[in-house]
Amino acid sequence: MIDPNDFPVLEREVWLNHAAISPWPAAVIRAMRAFVDDNAAHGPMHYDRWLATERRLRERAARLLEAESADDVALVKNTSEGLSLIAAGLDWRPGDRMLFLAGEFPSNRLPWVQLLPDHVDVVEVPFASSDPEAALLDALDERTRLVAVSSVRYDSGIRLDLDRLGRACRRAGALLAVDAIQQLGALPLAVRDLPVDFVVAGSHKWLLAPEGLALFWSAPDARDRLRPVQTGWRMWPDMFDFDRDDTSIPRHARRFEPGTLNTAGIHGLDAALGLLLSTPAAERGARLLAATRRLIDGLAALPGIDVLTPGDDRRRAGIVTFRCTGRDPRRVLAALRAGSVVAAPRSGGLRLSPHWYTPTDQIDRALDVIESALR
Ligand SMILES: Cc1ncc(COP(=O)(O)O)c(C=O)c1O
Repeated sequence: MIDPNDFPVLEREVWLNHAAISPWPAAVIRAMRAFVDDNAAHGPMHYDRWLATERRLRERAARLLEAESADDVALVKNTSEGLSLIAAGLDWRPGDRMLFLAGEFPSNRLPWVQLLPDHVDVVEVPFASSDPEAALLDALDERTRLVAVSSVRYDSGIRLDLDRLGRACRRAGALLAVDAIQQLGALPLAVRDLPVDFVVAGSHKWLLAPEGLALFWSAPDARDRLRPVQTGWRMWPDMFDFDRDDTSIPRHARRFEPGTLNTAGIHGLDAALGLLLSTPAAERGARLLAATRRLIDGLAALPGIDVLTPGDDRRRAGIVTFRCTGRDPRRVLAALRAGSVVAAPRSGGLRLSPHWYTPTDQIDRALDVIESALR
């Protein structure tokens, strides 16, 4: 059961913009306030408690990702940073190829086109919504070292089949890096069961936490192949041993955490993951798919609407994007805003992104506003 008091935004707005930035749930607001109050009253005197929250966040992140170990998860600043660490760190050899799909969000394009050595062939593969993996599979060859995809496309909301892609990558000897910012927290993503090597997901969308943190999971063998491109005192769990003799880079994922972390953000993200984990991922996912199904069915019944997001549950997550033939989407967006519905302009149309907690009557309200705006 969803308690509306857990989500203060429900009183103010129909928030269909979780694919951009999410409003904080009550648990996150409480945790952030408590952190501010603690600082105001005691400064950093309770640092040991902050570290305990950090440890709990690591455990929760591993549970959310269904990872073997919290040692495989690093806390980085954002998705872009995690992907950049892969691009800049991988042990590229002359003649290697790297594949990514056209139309990716810049965070999953720029690291490959800007940070790879000149001797690597960076290939932008055309994207086809009818079979999103096919072109990548065709392009895979024995020279391909890395394939990078967003598991859910930020514009159309199309979800890729990571299992199919990952198995093909394994066969070809390529690593698979996944930008999961549009999936993690929305639908289950169990790294233990998937043939993936790197997963990065920022905190401020489906994870419902403050901006400025991301989870960066890496499989140990793949991680070994990343040369560290930054380093610092905080990479070891016994980081307060400032006189340590052993300066070798640690094997676990904290090797990607050189210095002081975003402790305020850690308090927020820890609370957000606690909330997400209190409902089984499959249950949250099923509710979200039902919400997006309702949007798709409702939109498809309206004249002049072209829904870009697939109806097949296996091919989408929390995003529904549509175009309105012959209408200026900005007018529809303005009508939604006037009706306290928050959406985003994308792909020449509008993108709606509810979360699992969005009530059905709010979905219907959005559909009503769109219908009126089209009249
Ligand atoms: C698919 C995708 N990747 C990455 C980002 C940006 O992530 P970050 O700000 O965490 O680097 C976005 C944000 O919209 C996105 O949609």
